Amino acid sequence: MTLQSITIRRPDDWHVHLRDGEMLERVAPHTARQFARAIVMPNLVPPVTSVEAASAYRDRILSAASGYDFTPLMTCYLTDSIDPDELARGHAEGVWVAAKLYPAGATTNSASGVTDIRNIYPALERMQEIGMVFCIHGEVTDTDIDVFDREAVFIDRILTPLTREFPALKMVLEHITTRQAAEFVASAPDNIAATITPQHLHLNRNALFQGGLRPHAYCLPVVKREEHRLAVRKAAVSGSPKFFLGTDTAPHAREAKESDCGCAGIFNAPYALESYVQVFDEEGALDNFEGFASEHGPRFYGLPLNDGAVTLERAEVQVPETVDGLVPFHSSQQLNWKFVD
Ligand code: NCD
Ligand code: ZN
Repeated sequence: MTLQSITIRRPDDWHVHLRDGEMLERVAPHTARQFARAIVMPNLVPPVTSVEAASAYRDRILSAASGYDFTPLMTCYLTDSIDPDELARGHAEGVWVAAKLYPAGATTNSASGVTDIRNIYPALERMQEIGMVFCIHGEVTDTDIDVFDREAVFIDRILTPLTREFPALKMVLEHITTRQAAEFVASAPDNIAATITPQHLHLNRNALFQGGLRPHAYCLPVVKREEHRLAVRKAAVSGSPKFFLGTDTAPHAREAKESDCGCAGIFNAPYALESYVQVFDEEGALDNFEGFASEHGPRFYGLPLNDGAVTLERAEVQVPETVDGLVPFHSSQQLNWKFVD
């Protein structure tokens, strides 16, 4: 018999961009409605590099999500000059649960990012010691490397040596997009995991050009060939505790996406669970959905599982063209599952 509904322990989102100011007010409720906790990325302008900035940002998020039972988990933006003592202090004070590597120039607001991985070796040494999670935007930035190859090259040149140098550091390869990433993480030791977005489960690179240029399918790392989408799907639904939910919801104003130099990022928060559960359903893997959405992440981060539950029902849902003035993932399309508030 086909399952008509699925109830799982309350899930978390292990990778979100909530922005700041008016945009934060607009987007935070969408994440807080579906998820109990979220790892909040620090790529604001200016980036979140001090404990005080992170703690003030957390307060602004709590206020934007007031009315929801929602806990933002904060991250530190790693720069060439990051002070290991500041990292350790923020971690000890319970402000930072992780720190994020943006290779300089790799993506949105990464200009203050790391120019050479060796510059943060002292920080990584300290994080390994104190058990602080290292979140990785895994792409090289060399302009001579094809943009579709930058994740695979990062794994060879940066990540593989890094895992030898810091064998006990907990690392999350964020938003994986390739067969190489899925295979690397699956065969790595237990301290290495990955997040997976809905768009990398649904789209291959043809989506960028379907009937014309499609800015709302553009994110970084960019969507890849079908072969890679299938490998990432297989990893997500496999039941392996190394793979967990991280939407990488990354809202930008419509004009900023529909531009001659459009921003990278997909706003997938409003229908995130519906989008993911559809993939698990299509793969005949609904039994593994709760692990991916609600269990593997907290276990990796060493945090308690959430109490409470959420339900999704098999029902057609029409995604509107815009949500709060922003174009959401699956805009104007139909999904087969409905999130029950
Ligand atoms: C993110 C953003 O807009 O902040 N964009 C994206 O395409 N994913 C940055 C990031 O996670 O790379
Ligand atoms: Zn991101």
